[in-house]
Amino acid sequence: MKSRIEQLLAEVEAFAGKAAGEVEEFRIQMLGKKGKITALLEEFREVAPELKKEFGQKLNALKVAASQKIAELKARSDEGTAQGPTIDDPTRPGHGTASAAGTRHPISLVRGEILRIFDRLGYTVADGPEIEDDRHVFGALNFPPEHPARDMQDTFFIEKDILLRTHTSSIQVRVMETQQPPIRVVCPGRVFRNEAISYRAHCIFHQIEGLYIDEGVSFADMKQTLLHFAREMFGEKSRIRLRPSYFPFTEPSAEMDVSCNLCGGKGCPVCKGTGWLEIMGCGMVDPNVLTACGIDAEKYTGFAFGMGIERIAMLKYGVGDLRLYFENDVRFLHQFDAAV
Ligand code: DAH
Repeated sequence: MKSRIEQLLAEVEAFAGKAAGEVEEFRIQMLGKKGKITALLEEFREVAPELKKEFGQKLNALKVAASQKIAELKARSDEGTAQGPTIDDPTRPGHGTASAAGTRHPISLVRGEILRIFDRLGYTVADGPEIEDDRHVFGALNFPPEHPARDMQDTFFIEKDILLRTHTSSIQVRVMETQQPPIRVVCPGRVFRNEAISYRAHCIFHQIEGLYIDEGVSFADMKQTLLHFAREMFGEKSRIRLRPSYFPFTEPSAEMDVSCNLCGGKGCPVCKGTGWLEIMGCGMVDPNVLTACGIDAEKYTGFAFGMGIERIAMLKYGVGDLRLYFENDVRFLHQFDAAV
């Protein structure tokens, strides 16, 4: 009997089960109705009286050791479940529940592309406020006081001389007021016009203005810069043409067309059979504008251009309705997932 008690004590000491089920099984094996220790306790009744003291003490010690061990291990496994399941393999991949990453809006994609093209030509980016004064949007840009663009029909006025900018040309005034040539900037931003919303017009849209001022800058420099831009943006086979136009802030002024990148200039519904797409206004900065902004118009010349980002994006991606850019319908936006 003695050796069996010692053997069981060793078993109890060696037991190290962690899971609650394992510990319970061990308890039944040892102290359950048919357990090994229970069986020994029953046998003990038959032990000769002179041996009872010695075996009794040993047996009791075994029972106490087993009960303590089981209580201890149970407490530990309860803590384990209270803290949630144990991590059996921390290197296992996750469950794939992470939400899908967002993608860029087509307007952001096209703005980024335009800015990168001019960045490679050494242009920096300039910024300005959306709420502007009359001087920066009209006055310094050589708009006569009675010019129709100042009319309530086009411009959202906040106060008499405070308004939402109708074009990003206001930023070129801010740049010229604070910097001396050489100046080479592109100015992206939102602009606002009091227009009825339709498939081809919106009261909020995005423009990028460009400005280059230095000694001896010519119309030929402008033409070459804009040809380079058109080729980078629409493909190297692109051609451009400049049509005479009028803007108060440039003289001479032009509208620039790029050859239709869908039909290669043959004529299609997108270019309305002409082979050309109008993409921006441009011209040589009027000396009156240079003078109004504190730049010596005798010494310096320069060119400026302005384009609508929505329009470029429409031509690049074949989008037929301007309103799609503002509705944020994911079925529309997901079509640009793969664009860079
Ligand atoms: N500001 C003009 C517009 O909103 C675009 C423009 C035309 C900007 C000619 C220019 C320019 O800098 O030279 O329609």
